[in-house]
Amino acid sequence: MTEGRRHPDGIIIALDGPAGSGKSSTARAVASALGYRHLDSGAFYRAITWAALQAGIPADAWDGLTSAELDRLDVHGHPGEAGYTLTVGGAEVMREIRSPEVNAHVSRMAAVPAVRTWLMGALREAGARGGLVADGRDIGTVVFPDAELKVYLVADPKERARRRLLEQGLASPSPEDVEAEAARLQGRDEIDSTRAVAPLARAGDAVELDTTALDFAHQVDAIVRMARARGG
Ligand code: CDP
Repeated sequence: MTEGRRHPDGIIIALDGPAGSGKSSTARAVASALGYRHLDSGAFYRAITWAALQAGIPADAWDGLTSAELDRLDVHGHPGEAGYTLTVGGAEVMREIRSPEVNAHVSRMAAVPAVRTWLMGALREAGARGGLVADGRDIGTVVFPDAELKVYLVADPKERARRRLLEQGLASPSPEDVEAEAARLQGRDEIDSTRAVAPLARAGDAVELDTTALDFAHQVDAIVRMARARGG
């Protein structure tokens, strides 16, 4: 064990940034290179959103959700070797939480203070032993402010939109498709950055990485090297 390391299983790496900046894919690859677990915090907000939509709770009632109602949505994250599997009512929802409907509603759900409070315990518990790469919006600022390494990923909005469309299987998106997706991503960023609780923000001690022109393997490698230098 590295001297001075705060957790038995390794360091905590916080990866934050706007929608489509490559946090999740980068976090997954960094975790795999270090033998750590990946915690995709956005997946939890997505699962809660999907569960509420399925339960027929209208979006304009989400502000009033209580912790008992959130419990009843029966959303759970199950730790595996590499990451977490989200279930709702016992059924896996990893595909459902990436739907356009969830994309369109998740930032509204994530702005509800009671939802963030409800989730905080589960996210912190996931990091209790360290050995974790967590990605989201407020990981370095609120969830794990003591993370040994914090990285803030940014990229040009059109490049983020292009990557997101490719990920969704659109091999050669038209300029109109890219414009429309960039507008959707920026709409989400606007809600995420201006909300009252835990807004999207770069932690003062985070390293900023602009991935617009970066090759994926290099970007992963750069973070792995920083992590090793900090005891990971
Ligand atoms: O992958 P992408 O960048 O599209 O988003 P995500 O990481 O799956 O997160 C989906 C949404 O959850 C974000 O737009 C935020 O509204 C919310 N979120 C958050 O508020 N705090 C986090 N730590 C992670 C996600």
